[in-house]
Order: sequence, then structure tokens, then C-alpha cells
Amino acid sequence: MEIKKVGIAGCGLMGSGIAQVCIQAGYQVVVSEINDELLNKGIDSIKANLDRNVQKGRMKEEDEKAALGRLKGTTEIRDFADCDLIIEAVIELMEEKKKLLSALDKICPESTIFASNTSSLSIIEMASATNRPDRVLGLHFFNPVPVMRLIELVHSLATSDETVNTAAEFGRSLGKEVVIVKDSPGFLVNLLLTPLMHEAMKALESGLATMEDIDTAVRLGLNHPMGPFTLADLIGLDTVYRISSAIYEETKESRFAPPPRLKQMVLAGWLGRKTGKGFYEYK
Ligand code: 3HC
Repeated sequence: MEIKKVGIAGCGLMGSGIAQVCIQAGYQVVVSEINDELLNKGIDSIKANLDRNVQKGRMKEEDEKAALGRLKGTTEIRDFADCDLIIEAVIELMEEKKKLLSALDKICPESTIFASNTSSLSIIEMASATNRPDRVLGLHFFNPVPVMRLIELVHSLATSDETVNTAAEFGRSLGKEVVIVKDSPGFLVNLLLTPLMHEAMKALESGLATMEDIDTAVRLGLNHPMGPFTLADLIGLDTVYRISSAIYEETKESRFAPPPRLKQMVLAGWLGRKTGKGFYEYK
């Protein structure tokens, strides 16, 4: 099946990044938000990113214009009715995602593939809200989407091989590497990342080393681009907490249990870069 038109539900940090890479790859894109204010904010961030590409000489002005010409913003779900692939990047609440997929199931042709950008929720549970579980899968992008080269393609028990192949080809057409993973708590990347972050937080609590030194150790000793505290602040501590809790809920393995300090920081509203304070402070 050929993907020509892509729908993206949600134009926040992830949805806008996904929309950007799709229009840059030549797809027609319709992106939605729950109101005009959020929609305009998301579209402005796409424009700002493309402007930066032009300023840095990575993109021609006419290509930016053409890319933006392929982008349509909406607050109406009916605008997704003729999409070949819809990627949802809405709030990480299972009930919201199921409600959206169930509504899309009623208005889209049988052939439309539904993908979720969820970082931790069950794909088969989302698929159960539709009459097309063979055409539902996860396409997990990474933040910042325009820069990060990976997509985790998550297939449930019910996802068909044809859907997996079409989605993998689509992912590669965006210039990304695609890894194929089973629908299991934390998929692959967050299953590996969560214990590292928890151990870093415990090391800090126990006085093993300072936060800065733990970050430096991981950055220079393991060659990660960012240490675990800087990365947690980038991802958002609410998101880190939610991912840890979701994996722990399913596995009950102590290495996934979110440290109490993480929960306290989330309750305090210290969510990382987006609120100006997390493990570090941001001006
Ligand atoms: N959007 C678009 N481009 C961006 C960007 C953004 N938000 N942030 C940075 N960039 C671009 C910059 O324009 C720059 O490009 P240039 O060198 O060609 O001008 C390039 O990325 C490098 O940026 P900087 O020089 O500002 O800074 P760094 O070299 O430190 O790179 C980084 C920034 C790319 C964020 C790098 O530190 C990094 O890779 N960090 C790790 C990120 C990571 O691990 N993300 C995954 C998080 S986990 C996740 O998303 C899963 C979810 O389920 C939680």
C-alpha cells in the first residue's frame, strides 16, 4: 500500500516534529489540535525549525515554502477521513487514545493504518477500540524528532505483516532507521533507559556523586550525548515518571519502580526544561 497523505493527531512537541519530518519527506500532512491556540503554537514551531534550516543553509527557501504548502492544520477530526496513515500523538491517556481511534475507525476507509506514538501504552489495547486491529501499530519517534534517527516500530499480536512492512517503509522514507519491537511494556528503548535513569537518581540520593558528575560520567565515559539528568529534563519528568510507572505496573520489577524523589518533583511541578526547573534550572 502506498502512503500519500498522513494525518497527525496532536501538534505538541512530538506531533509537530513528526509533521515536520513528514512534510520535509514530501507527504501531504493534516495535523490536528484540540483548539486553534495549540494548533497555531505547534505550526509556528514547525515554521521556526524550517526557517532555522534555511538560515543554516540546509534547506532552500523554495523547499521550505513547498513543505509548508503540504501542511494543513485542523481542529476537526473529519479532515482525517482521506488519510492513508494516521499517527496519533495526543495526551498519553489510554482512554483518550481509544476514544480517538474509535472515532477515526468510523470515518476512515478500511485501508487506513493507525499508528500511535505512545512511549509506554499497550498497542493491542488501543487496537481493541477499532475494527481493524491488523492495521494498528506503534511508531515511536524520539525527541527532538527532526534530529533523532530512530523509530521503534511496535507490532501487537494482531498487527499484520503487510501493515508492518508498509509502516517500516514509510519510516525509512522519513530518513529514519526502523527497529521492529513487540508490543511489551516500555517497548525496547524505554525498557533500557528507565533503569539507567533510576540508578542515576538513586546514586545521587545516596551521595555517591554529584548530579553534574553523574551526567559527565555518562557523557564522557559512555559517550552518550547527554547525561541521565539532562536527558530526563529534556524528556520531561512527568513523562519519565509516567513511563516508569507504566512499565512497573505491568512488570512489578523493582528496577522500574519510579524513585519517590521523582514523584515528588513531578508533584512540585518541576518537570524539566519545559517548566524552567527540573534536576537543573533553566533561564
Ligand atoms: N528541533 C530541531 N532541531 C534541533 C532541536 C530541536 N528541538 N534541538 C537541537 N536541534 C539540532 C540543532 O539545530 C543542531 O543542528 P546543527 O548542528 O546542524 O545546527 C543539532 O540538533 C545539535 O544541536 P545543539 O548543537 O544545540 O546541541 P547538541 O549538539 O547538544 O544536540 C541534541 C542536542 C540533539 C538534543 C543532543 O544533545 C542529543 O541527541 N541528546 C539526546 C537526546 C535523546 O536521547 N533523545 C531521546 C529521548 S527519549 C525519547 O524521546 C523517547 C520518549 O518515549 C521519552
